[in-house]
Amino acid sequence: MTPPITLALSKGRIFDETLPLLAAAGIAVLEDPEKTRKLILPTNQEGVRVVLVRATDVPTYVEYGGADLGVTGKDTLIEHGGQGLFRPLDLRIAKCHVSVAVRSDFDYRHAVHQGARLRVATKYTSIARDFFAGKGVHVDLIKLYGSMELAPLTGLADAIVDLVSTGNTLKANHLVEVERIMDISSHLVVNQAAFKLKQARLREIIGAFESAIRKD
Ligand code: PRP
Repeated sequence: MTPPITLALSKGRIFDETLPLLAAAGIAVLEDPEKTRKLILPTNQEGVRVVLVRATDVPTYVEYGGADLGVTGKDTLIEHGGQGLFRPLDLRIAKCHVSVAVRSDFDYRHAVHQGARLRVATKYTSIARDFFAGKGVHVDLIKLYGSMELAPLTGLADAIVDLVSTGNTLKANHLVEVERIMDISSHLVVNQAAFKLKQARLREIIGAFESAIRKD
C-alpha cells in the first residue's frame, strides 16, 4: 500500500480558499473543520488526508515531514525561514499585506528618520527588523502573538507591524496604516524528501493547482 499524502492547512481563510484548488485536483474534504473537533480530516481519495494545524505551525509540520505539503502565508514563511521546504507555487489566495500602523495622533513621519528609535509591537519580528533596518531606524521589538492593535492604544508600543486585509480592524481601533511593507498571499510548500519519494502523486496535485490558479 502506498503511504497517504498529508496536506497541512489552517482553519479559516486559507482552508476555505484552498478548497477550490483541491477540487481542481479531484480532492474533496469530507468534513467541515468548523463543525468537528477532529484534527485529521478524510477526503474522497483514500490516499489523501488533511491535517488541521495553527497557521504558524504549517511550515514546521511540512519541514519535519508531519505533512507532505501545506498551504501557508508568505508572512509565516518568512518568519519560519523556509528551510527544508520546496516552494513550487504562489497560490494567489488569502491576499493581504503587512503594514506599519500607528495611532492616528502619532506623528510617524517625524518619529521615523535615520538614527531614530521606535518601539514596535509585532508577531512578525523578522519582517519588522529587516524593514526598519533598511531605513536606519533602531527598533525595540516587542513580540506579541495576537491583538497587536492594542499595543499603541495602551502605550506598549509606538507602532505595530501587522497584517491588513480590509483595514476594518485598524479603523475600529483608531489606528492608521502609515507604510505598506509587502504584499502577502499563500504559497504551497512541500517537504523536500516527500517530493522525491511521492513525486508522481505530488506532481499531479501541484499540476492541478497550477492550472486552477492560471484560470483566474
Ligand atoms: C488579522 C490581523 C488583523 C486583522 C486584519 O488577524 O492580525 O488583526 O486580521 O484584517 P482586516 O484588515 O480585514 O480587519 P486575524 O483575524 O488573522 O487573527 P490574529 O490576530 O490571530 O492574527
